[in-house]
Amino acid sequence: MILCLCHPFSDSQAKAHMQAKGAKVSVSEVYSVCSDGKTPQCCTCLQTLKDMVKSHNRAVAV
Ligand code: FES
Repeated sequence: MILCLCHPFSDSQAKAHMQAKGAKVSVSEVYSVCSDGKTPQCCTCLQTLKDMVKSHNRAVAV
């Protein structure tokens, strides 16, 4: 599923980055990596990305 429409990338790309890192990540880091260094424009996707990051960080913290 396409997550961000402003600088198109998918939820799979975001997940792949988080899994490859295998440690805690920040929303801005994931966004930057997936969008080739761009910054969010409309921010519509950020709540979904925040939820994904939160769930990833909770999983790697245990
Ligand atoms: S949809 Fe991601 S910044 Fe607009």
